[in-house]
Amino acid sequence: MSQRHPMVAGNWKMHGSRAANLALVEGVLAGTVPGAEVVLCPPFVYLADLAPRLAGGAVQLGAQDVCAEPHHGAYTGEVSADMLRDVGCRYVIVGHSERRALYGETDAIVARKVLTALAAGLQPIICVGEQLEDRDAGRTEAVVSEQLEAVLSALADSANGLTALDQCVLAYEPVWAIGTGRTASPEQAQQVHAFIRGRIANRDATISESVRVLYGGSVKPGNARELFGMADVDGGLIGGASLKADEFVAIIAAAVAR
Ligand code: PGA
Repeated sequence: MSQRHPMVAGNWKMHGSRAANLALVEGVLAGTVPGAEVVLCPPFVYLADLAPRLAGGAVQLGAQDVCAEPHHGAYTGEVSADMLRDVGCRYVIVGHSERRALYGETDAIVARKVLTALAAGLQPIICVGEQLEDRDAGRTEAVVSEQLEAVLSALADSANGLTALDQCVLAYEPVWAIGTGRTASPEQAQQVHAFIRGRIANRDATISESVRVLYGGSVKPGNARELFGMADVDGGLIGGASLKADEFVAIIAAAVAR
């Protein structure tokens, strides 16, 4: 089994309310067992509410997105990486397929967001994944590699070079498995995770062994254990099941037990 510390991140998407969040967070804190890194990513407006409750504890705070612009300015509606740090975030999800598909985020924008997040001291959770048509057409690896290479090239060209990848987490999220109840089989996930690690190894073998690659897409308590048991799957990025404390903590337990 790998030395990589497992991670389970909950992407709440556009769900929650002040009252509901309180109960969810208390449930997660009460049920979380040590042995995995746990991250909660509520909507922006609730980050500052949750930060004091999570400060100094076992559960980290993350945002779901960040503005690509590195400096404050006239960007109505945007939230900067510095602001996310200011309210206590450690992580930020970047390039989620819903941002790519619904809000037109290109690989270039995703790469800029990664660099902006890193420059502010945030750790990006970088999402890649193919659509169903891509998989059916045998283009899974081509699509994943294009998305991944955009980020790797931007990092390689940046001041710190590819070593900054050790501050990043990757997430493989096949789009056809997100919110559909249709999970990738453990073997399908492992194949793409190994492919991702291989692409990174082409540039830096040491970093490829230490970087965590999460799986996301309809992870539930009933399938988490076998997914997380695969050699290159280092935990999960959880949508729907992160909104129910009992399901989320069961998934955390599965990551710890792997
Ligand atoms: P899901 O979402 O667990 O609801 O499929 C995963 C994600 O979009 O990160």
